[in-house]
Amino acid sequence: MKQDTLFANPQPLVDFTFDDAVADVFPDMIRRSVPGYETIIALLGGLAKHYAQEGSTIYDLGCSLGAATLSMYSQTRATSHLKYICIDNSEAMVKRCQSRLMRHMPETDLHVICESIEDSAIENASIVVINFTLQFLSTESRLALLEKVYQGLRPNGILILSEKLVFSDDQQNQQQIDWHHTFKRANGYSDMEVSQKRKALENVLIPDTYEVHITRLQQAGFENAYQWFQAFNFTSIIAIKSPLISPPPKISSNK
Ligand SMILES: C[S@@+](CC[C@H](N)C(=O)[O-])C[C@H]1O[C@@H](n2cnc3c(N)ncnc32)[C@H](O)[C@@H]1O
Repeated sequence: MKQDTLFANPQPLVDFTFDDAVADVFPDMIRRSVPGYETIIALLGGLAKHYAQEGSTIYDLGCSLGAATLSMYSQTRATSHLKYICIDNSEAMVKRCQSRLMRHMPETDLHVICESIEDSAIENASIVVINFTLQFLSTESRLALLEKVYQGLRPNGILILSEKLVFSDDQQNQQQIDWHHTFKRANGYSDMEVSQKRKALENVLIPDTYEVHITRLQQAGFENAYQWFQAFNFTSIIAIKSPLISPPPKISSNK
């Protein structure tokens, strides 16, 4: 795994992008930057095993190098006729994701697509994963994406949404940021690296509160949404589309 030293030296402030340099060090960067990332990825596999439906599609929106898909694939091989669709708008990520997944998932109905998830069609899905990606969309476009996901899910299908959080209580918010930075320093990042990366992400990663996420998921149609993971200011939520409720049988009146 190539070590992330992208912010180790003083540099002019430029907005963060998922370019070749980031894609090259991404596994190390996300593991040392997002508390609980590896746990979430591992547990996604178990959730996928539980919710994958035969003949359905599993989507990984904002897939980066395909870590979530690999975990889900490892646990859903027994489910027949599954299709896996991975989408990312970074060419650097998609190129690497494609060759990585083709190596690890041979003879699978796999599609790695380079486009904005705002433009993607979601159909016949039993599982949709948006792992630390909604936060990079403009806040105005987030509801439309979730509505599209809800419409594209089968009954009993799930969305797993992982995000960085902001807290409405200023004191708690600052505390959570401090704990997160302590986590990063414990993983070998210097104060300069923490500070330069934070500034580079400031205009690019716009976090919501947990309450905003839950309200938006409800607005999108999800009947149930629960937090299943939190480490400092990073969370993962599972949102479930209810089963179809069939109307009660008509009682024929024999006059
Ligand atoms: C933090 S990474 C996601 C990590 C990945 N889901 C995982 O579990 O390893 C965010 C990804 O979202 C992608 N992204 C950001 N905005 C996007 C958009 N509008 N459409 C598609 N991908 C997007 C970025 O290129 C990047 O690869």
